Amino acid sequence: MKVLVIGGGAREHALCRSLSQDPAVSELHCAPGNAGIARVATVHPVDQLDGAQVTALAQRLAADLVVVGPEAPLVAGVADPLRAAGIPVFGPSAEAAQLEGSKAFAKDVMAGAAVPTARSYLCTTPEEAAEALDAFGPPYVVKDDGLAAGKGVVVTADRTAALAHAAACDRVVIEEYLDGPEVSLFAITDGTTVLPLQPAQDFKRALDGDAGPNTGGMGAYSPLPWAPEGLVAEVLETVLQPTVDELRRRGTPFSGLLYAGLALTSRGTRVIEFNARFGDPETQVVLARLRTPLAGVLLAAAKGTLADLEPLRWSEQAAVTVVVAAEGYPAAPRSGDPIEGLEKAEAADGTVWVLHAGTRADAEGRVLSAGGRVLSVTATGADLTQARERAYQGVAEIRLDGSQHRTDIALQAARDAG
Ligand code: AMP
Ligand code: GLY
Repeated sequence: MKVLVIGGGAREHALCRSLSQDPAVSELHCAPGNAGIARVATVHPVDQLDGAQVTALAQRLAADLVVVGPEAPLVAGVADPLRAAGIPVFGPSAEAAQLEGSKAFAKDVMAGAAVPTARSYLCTTPEEAAEALDAFGPPYVVKDDGLAAGKGVVVTADRTAALAHAAACDRVVIEEYLDGPEVSLFAITDGTTVLPLQPAQDFKRALDGDAGPNTGGMGAYSPLPWAPEGLVAEVLETVLQPTVDELRRRGTPFSGLLYAGLALTSRGTRVIEFNARFGDPETQVVLARLRTPLAGVLLAAAKGTLADLEPLRWSEQAAVTVVVAAEGYPAAPRSGDPIEGLEKAEAADGTVWVLHAGTRADAEGRVLSAGGRVLSVTATGADLTQARERAYQGVAEIRLDGSQHRTDIALQAARDAG
């Protein structure tokens, strides 16, 4: 099977790593890729938002499967011309990707499917926003309706800051504050059948102890020893399956990866957000634990034959990933610095590996930083304690001027479990 992956972040590196280990994959391509992906796949330049270009590349490579990784091309509708050309695609249509592309659309689908989520108002004027804020009281949650690359949500006790964020956006969703731990649960779906993956938790704040600004994610781990028994079955029944059924009923079936961001509140499980693609950095740890070869699962989703698959197989091991970010991330990351120690960071026995996010190779083949989240070090172990020890040993080998990482990824969960 010839597989083409669209994207070039750590999530795509994790996908490419798993696909490269799948004996069913005869050729692996990625566009645009990055310096790390180039070690496991043939990389091609592409404007990933340009559906015609992506389709032409897939046709030239005679790809049997195209996997669209990030939200921007999905929301831009890159999967549509691929499907129209008869190429199996893992990733939703533009219409179905509105589940991530528009918070208001997601709320409407959840209302239609009776999926538990925060109560909310859609506001377009300052007066409406003020009224909604006062209806819920602090802490205030104000969400830009559209895609905002992780910067769209403001959670604050400061009413003035909440109003200012609302004023800076065209349309906002203002909703009740959800307390309780967050869980990311991914499901692979062909629009009818839904296969949940293993839950993970990510760390959204930049600094230890959940301080500092929101980021795209600074680390993740799986499994969650503290999660209530039956969580996956409950979320499948109350969230994932009803959402997929509702989108099919509306004539916009969702095929690809449905990401449920959940809050386990004192009043039950609630959806915080949906995404229309694998989460980053959770994918790094979820795929680290998946034993079933990946390509066949993604192809079955693309072809609508998920119901015929054997149940997914999972490793009993734990996985932890730690993001190494550039100085100044997330506000103003610096880039162009050489990265050293990449090989030393990896373990010969395959228990520790580096996944590249924002990197590029220069003319001499040196690897340079080229983005806010530069790379992540992922490790497996018998339990979270061992996995995080190994991941941090890997991080300690990486040399990148000014780089930053959190030191408490999976720490509490490892302590509680041990
Ligand atoms: P998002 O950009 O939608 O992933 O949201 C970013 C983060 O904002 C989430 O991971 C939560 O930590 C927080 N958040 C979003 N909605 C709520 C809510 N209703 N209550 C509390 N926190 C929230
Ligand atoms: N880990 C958060 C996200 O992928 O949106």
